[in-house]
Amino acid sequence: MAKKILIPNILPAEARRLIPSDIEVDYSDSDQPLSKTDLIRRLQGANGLICHIITAIDDEVLQAASSLQVVSNVAVGFNNIDVPAARRRGVVVTNTPDVLTETTADFAWALLMAAARRVVEADQYARSDEWKVWKWDLLWGADIHGKTLGVVGFGRIGRAVARRGRGFGMRVLYCDTVPADAAVERELNATATDLDTLLRESDFVSMHTLLSPETRHLINERTLRLMKKTAILINAARGPVLDEAALVKALSEGWIAGAGLDVFEEEPKIHPGLRPLRNVTLAPHIASASHETRVAMATLAVRNCLAVLQGKPALTPVS
Ligand code: DGY
Repeated sequence: MAKKILIPNILPAEARRLIPSDIEVDYSDSDQPLSKTDLIRRLQGANGLICHIITAIDDEVLQAASSLQVVSNVAVGFNNIDVPAARRRGVVVTNTPDVLTETTADFAWALLMAAARRVVEADQYARSDEWKVWKWDLLWGADIHGKTLGVVGFGRIGRAVARRGRGFGMRVLYCDTVPADAAVERELNATATDLDTLLRESDFVSMHTLLSPETRHLINERTLRLMKKTAILINAARGPVLDEAALVKALSEGWIAGAGLDVFEEEPKIHPGLRPLRNVTLAPHIASASHETRVAMATLAVRNCLAVLQGKPALTPVS
């Protein structure tokens, strides 16, 4: 019987073209998540699912999708999928690591630099009628070069962020459950430390952990209070790694100087306390959104799905 793949949301044609014509494809050129009922209905008879992070795959969905062999997430993060439930049901879960590492690190740096040098405020000011004369004391920000960069989560993306810090002559501190090899530490000028020390000593803190029960609200009222008053916090990982309500307090009461956020606790909702703050730069979860990388992610997701349907090992299974 012909295999069937469900692609419930927009995916570049370059990637979809890789799917052989004898595979039936149920594709929607939509950016809206399906309701659970519609998702379950359209998964009937499907062997593969290629989905974005807006598709939640829980045990109920997996149970109802009895022919499903593979869930191919077009993202490196996979907190939208109940991976243990998939494993129990023999469904392979794949993600898209590596292809987005450098692009995501670039964007974490874009947020870091924008927050440090107040780029969004500067843009708004330059466009406004307020700019009448060059001002000596206008929009002073923070230096980046020569400072200390703290990287929380020292996997691929965290290391790529640290590598960029070398160009700025930064000292890098990192924390991770698994320490990096001595050679990596040397190459990146990075020193392992515990989270509290990292927060106390860093001028910039960039979050790159997976979301798990252990990392939910890793940055909270207690840990924010450890940071320097001049520090800037960047999150391009997952929103719930930060307690947004505590961050609003920290930013408005000056416990830290600023933040750059690409991800939020309840996307697309943003904590109402963040919106009026000038010392936070906000982005709508676009860290991996370059043309090249988004096509590479989609292509890898299609390849993962096809591999499993062809009885081969997935290229990048979630372990
Ligand atoms: C990822 O890959 O996990 C991003 O957050 C979504 O593009």
